[in-house]
Amino acid sequence: MMFMKWRHSAIMLLINACCFSSCQQQLKEEISMNEIIEQKVDSLLAQMTLEEKVGQMTQVRHFDDISDNDIASKFIGSVIHTQGPLPGKGAAEWQSKFIELQKQALSTRLAIPLLFGVDAVHGQNTYEGATIFPHNIGLGAAGNPDLVERTAAITAIEAQATGFTWVFSPCVAIPYNEKWGRVYEAFSESTELTTKLTKASIRGHQGELSERETVMATAKHFVGDGSTDFGVEGGNTSLSSEHVTQRLLPPYQAAVKEGVGSVMASFNTLDGKSMHAHKALITDTLKGSMGFDGIVVSDWKGYSRFGETGIINAGIDMVMAVDGDLEDYQSGLKEAVENGTVPQERIDDAVKRILRQKYRLGLFDHPFPDTTLIGKIGIEEHRAIARQAVRESLVLLKNDNSALPLKKKAKIVVVGEFADNSGFQSGGWTVNWQGSTESYKGATTILEGIKDLSEAEVIYDKDGSGNHEGAEAAVIVVGETPYAEFFGDIGGEMDLFQHTLTEAHQNLIESYRSKGLKVVVILISGRPLVTTEQIEQSDAFVAAWLPGSEGDGIAQVLFGDHDFKGKLPHSWPKSVEDYKGKYGPNFWDDSIEPLFPFGYGLSYR
Ligand code: GLC
Repeated sequence: MMFMKWRHSAIMLLINACCFSSCQQQLKEEISMNEIIEQKVDSLLAQMTLEEKVGQMTQVRHFDDISDNDIASKFIGSVIHTQGPLPGKGAAEWQSKFIELQKQALSTRLAIPLLFGVDAVHGQNTYEGATIFPHNIGLGAAGNPDLVERTAAITAIEAQATGFTWVFSPCVAIPYNEKWGRVYEAFSESTELTTKLTKASIRGHQGELSERETVMATAKHFVGDGSTDFGVEGGNTSLSSEHVTQRLLPPYQAAVKEGVGSVMASFNTLDGKSMHAHKALITDTLKGSMGFDGIVVSDWKGYSRFGETGIINAGIDMVMAVDGDLEDYQSGLKEAVENGTVPQERIDDAVKRILRQKYRLGLFDHPFPDTTLIGKIGIEEHRAIARQAVRESLVLLKNDNSALPLKKKAKIVVVGEFADNSGFQSGGWTVNWQGSTESYKGATTILEGIKDLSEAEVIYDKDGSGNHEGAEAAVIVVGETPYAEFFGDIGGEMDLFQHTLTEAHQNLIESYRSKGLKVVVILISGRPLVTTEQIEQSDAFVAAWLPGSEGDGIAQVLFGDHDFKGKLPHSWPKSVEDYKGKYGPNFWDDSIEPLFPFGYGLSYR
C-alpha cells in the first residue's frame, strides 16, 4: 500500500509541476493511461497460476517442435518467425497462420494474447516483396534522424501487415572492430551518432505503441556485442566498467527514455561473465538505475545455451525460441520457483513486464492483424523513402578527373555480377537469415538504375571480360557477398571473409585501369575494408554499404541528379594492421592513423 501511496503522490507532484493546462491535461491522460494499465496488469497477474506465468515467459517458433495445441496447453507468451518454413505464401496467408495461433492463445482461461516477433532489421526483410532499406551502417552514413524515423515507421507498417507486433531491432552496438560480422547491423562506431539514431528508430517503430501500424522495438544486444576483443561474435568484452558506461550504455539510456518495449541480452561475455546472466547490468543497471520497465528477452536459445535459473535470476524475462526444450524449460523453471531457487517475485516481475507491453500495444483490444495493411507492403511511397536512404547513405571517398557525375549521354560500361544482383546489394537478413545470392521480388539493381537514367548505350560486362567498346567510363561494382552473425566474422571459425576485396574483384579493377576509361568503383560491403590500392587505381570510389532493394538510388547520385551527402560512420582502415590495432583487449586505441577519419565524405559541390 505504501508503494501505491508513494506512486500517487509522485504523480500529483508531477502534474502540479506542469505549468500549462494543456500539458497538464496531456500528462494527466498519459499518467492515467499508465495507471490504468498498471491496475490491469496487477489484477491479471493476481489471477495467474505458476504454469500460466511460466508460459508467458516462453517464446517458441511457429513451426518447429510445437504441436498444434502447445500454444494453449503451455500458455505460450510469444511466437517468433525466423529462418525456416514460411508462415505461408503471401501476407494474407502469413496473417491467417498467426490468427490461428492467436485464437489458440485466446482460448485459454485468461485469454492472454501472443506477441509475434521477427528480425525486421532493415525493413520486413523476412518477407520477399517488402521494402528493404539500407542496413543501419548506411543509415549511420546518412546520419539523418528524421529519415531513420521514417524507415522505422515503414518497417513497422510492413511488419504489422505480415502479422507481427514485435521486431528485434534496432541493433545499437558500438562496433570496435571491422572484423566483427555484424558491423553493418549497427549505426556507427560513434556513441553520439548511435544514440541520436537510436532515439529516432525507437520513435519510428513504436509511435505511441497502441496504434495498429506500429510495433514494439528491441534495443540489442545488451551489452558489448560489438566491442568484443578482436571482433568475435559472442566473444569476450574486456572493457572497463567506466568504458562500458561512457561508450556503450548511452544508446540504451536513449532507448529507455524513448520507451523502448524490449531489450535483448547479448551473447558476449563481459569480463568473462555471460551477459545473459549479468544481474548487475541487467537488473541493477538497466532495470534499476536506468528505469527500464519493458521486457528483457534472451537471444537465440538463451535457455539451452546459458541454463535457465541463472538467466532468469539475472533479469531475463522471456526466453527466445525455447522450442525443442519446451518441456524441460517450463518444468525446470516451475521446479526452481517451487524449491526457491528462483524467487516468486522474480517470476512476477517478468510476467508484469510482459503483460505491461501487451497492454501498451493494445493487444487485448486488437489481438489480430489488420488485413488492410497488406496493400501497403512494398508500395512506391515506401520505396521512395528507401531510395532517399540509399542516396543519402553513399559516401564519396575519391573523385578525381571529374569522373563523377557520369554524363547521361556518355557510353558507360557497367562491370561485375554485383551490379545486377539485388541479393548481393542487400546483405544478410534479406529474405533469408544469411541473405540471398540472387535478385529478389520488388528490388531494383544498380545496373537497372543506371540503364534507366542513361540516355546512351550501357554495356554490361558481367564477368569482367573487358568488352567495353568505346565506353567513356566504367562503373565497377565489387564487394562482400551476404553474411549474418558469426558467418561474417573475419578470421572467425567460418573464415569465409577477409579484410580486403577478393582477388577476383581486385583483378576487375586492375583490368580496367589501363583502358583509358574513367574508372568508378562502387563498394558493396557491411563494413570498411582495406581498399587502399584499389582507391589509388580508381578515378572515383564510393562506399555504398548494403543499400537494400532500391539499387536505383545509386544511379541517381552517380548521374548527379542528387549530390553525395553520406559521411563515414566508421574510420576507414589503411591496412590490415589497422584492424588488429584498432581495438586491443584493454582500450580504444586512437593512435591508429586511418586512411579516412570518421565523418569523412566528399560531395560534388
Ligand atoms: C540471433 C541474433 C539476434 C536475433 C535472434 C533471433 O542469434 O543474435 O540478433 O534477433 O537470434 O533471430
